[in-house]
Parts: sequence; C-alpha cells; structure tokens
Amino acid sequence: MVPTLTAPGSTAVDPGWADEVRALARRRDAVLLAHNYQLPEIQDVADHVGDSLALSRIAAEADASTIVFCGVHFMAETAKILSPGKTVLIPDARAGCSLADSITADQLREWKAEHPGAAVVSYVNTTAAVKAETDVCCTSSNAVEVVASIPREREVLFLPDQFLGAHVRRVLDREDMHVWAGECHVHAGINGRQLADQARAHPEADLFVHPECGCATSALYLAGTGAVPEEQVKILSTGGMIEAARATGAKEVLVATEVGMLHQLRRAAPEIDFRAVNERASCTYMKMITPEALLRSVRDGTDEVHVDPELAARGRVAVQRMIEIGSSGGGE
Ligand code: 13P
Ligand code: SF4
Repeated sequence: MVPTLTAPGSTAVDPGWADEVRALARRRDAVLLAHNYQLPEIQDVADHVGDSLALSRIAAEADASTIVFCGVHFMAETAKILSPGKTVLIPDARAGCSLADSITADQLREWKAEHPGAAVVSYVNTTAAVKAETDVCCTSSNAVEVVASIPREREVLFLPDQFLGAHVRRVLDREDMHVWAGECHVHAGINGRQLADQARAHPEADLFVHPECGCATSALYLAGTGAVPEEQVKILSTGGMIEAARATGAKEVLVATEVGMLHQLRRAAPEIDFRAVNERASCTYMKMITPEALLRSVRDGTDEVHVDPELAARGRVAVQRMIEIGSSGGGE
C-alpha cells in the first residue's frame, strides 16, 4: 500500500496506511518515535512525538528491540549511542542537518587545542564523531542548565549553533563562553524584520521563538524596548512550546520555528490561532521522512544506523550527562 505524495508538507495517504505501519512495527518489535518537525501523518502514526531531549530519553528507556526514528540522522545516531544493543532504523538515511554539518571532529580538535582545559558543550545536533570529543551535550530545552552546571572559573566552548550560544551567554551572563559560528539554514532564515512586522500586526499575540532562530535576539530586543510586553515573548525548545501553549491565556501565538511544529501546537491547544512567522521555514531533511519511506522502513528494516563502537562509547558519556540535566517534558 503506497501513499501518494501531493504537495510539500501535505500528503494523501492510502486508507489503511497507518494500520499497516503499526502492524509491521509490532511484528518487528519496534517503537516509532517522531520529532515535532515531522509531517503530520508521521507524527500521528508515531508512538511518541517530542523534542530532541524527550526523544533521547524515550529511546534510552524503550523496551522494544528496534527503534524507528522519524527525524534526522544525528537524532537516530544519538538513539544508537544510548542503546547500542538495539536496532535503530531511520526511514531515509539521507536526512541530514545543516547545523550538524557546520563543525567536524577535526575542527573541534583544533579549537580545543587553542583552549586547553576548556569544557566542551555540544548541542545534540552534531555527528557521533563530534560527540566523542565533547564533555557534555545539550539540547535547546536544557542548554542553559547544562552550561550553568560547569564551574564559572572554567572556560566553555559551545558549539555549533551561534544563536543558541548567544541566548545561553545572555541568560547566564557568561563572558568566558566561546561560541562556534554555525547555524541552521531554516532557523537563520527566520529574521528579526519578519518577527517585528508580525508582532506589530498582531499586538496581542504571544511570540514563541526557538533559540536557534536568527530572530531570537530581535525578540528579546522587542521585549526590552517595550514594543512587545516582556511576558508575551518566550524563547523555547519545541517541547517547551507545547507546554507554553497549554499554559498561555493568549488567543493568538506567533511561532518562530520550523513549520512542522504547528501540528502538535494545534493539537495541544485547538482554541489558539497559531501563525508561522515564516511559512517557508520548512526543513527539507525532516520532510525526507515520507509515509512511503516509513512504510518501507518498517517492512524492510531500512535504513539501519551504525555508529563505530569506540566513538559511541566516548559520546555516550556526554549524551548521558545531557539526559540527566534539566527536565523537558517535551514529548508524549
Ligand atoms: P528541539 O531540540 O527543540 O527539538 O530542536 C531540534 C532541532 O533540530 C531544531 O531545529
Ligand atoms: Fe537541522 Fe535545522 Fe533541520 Fe533542525 S531544522 S534538523 S537544525 S537543518
């Protein structure tokens, strides 16, 4: 039963597709995990949907012998690092991440040599080889707590996202923190002008901004100048956005992140009018996980994720520290 693709972001799946995927997953003893940026059909068929941190925690605790990770490659790799004895599948191994590609292990080794003794904090959007050179990983939902756990007298190398790094440095007022100049092309493309225009057009709306966005600084500036009341501006991970949607009294929310996020937000709070700050902010990599690819994955066991055992063992320490620090509640 093959689903038919229509337009980007929307698919017409054959009736029975979801039942077939679930039945094949059960037969394979597989749990289906989906990131908040996945296509709506993929989110709806998954056993768990969440942010990077929540999905890492679920992957680490899963009873199933196989994890099917509907997300991008570094996320599936992280699941394999945490559960080396399990089979980890990603429906399309070409689903990469421009942010993870912005630093290599060689570049990190050179950077460390320039700052001997510094603690290395890597965003989870990194390859296994970079994680192996890392002291502690973080996600957008616990980055502040992770850096705060490092003694103030120790230098910090934070990588690879410059916008998330700037956010953490601002919150902790930590000058000895060096930030790598990497970025995600999707989030960097959500700019301050778009946010300011939308905030002016919707003065009552809350602003939910992912810290990877190029507009995160503008959001704080708008709050600082009083152009938008401070309590309406929230810098949040994707999981944090769901919690904030349930708690806010706002009727309208402007969402600055990848557009796949709108699906879970609308499910969590159907009474709120959620609007994307940039409707074209769609991650091509996340959208490679099509219904067709997922069906193939659970049917044929493709694409299997492998991580060199020595790299995995070194990276595991950093990833385990990450899942112990900060609470996300960012998945279900
Ligand atoms: P979260 O950690 O907020 O889920 O974000 C992951 C990601 O890839 C952002 O682009
Ligand atoms: Fe990577 Fe950006 Fe896509 Fe997230 S949205 S997976 S950071 S390319």
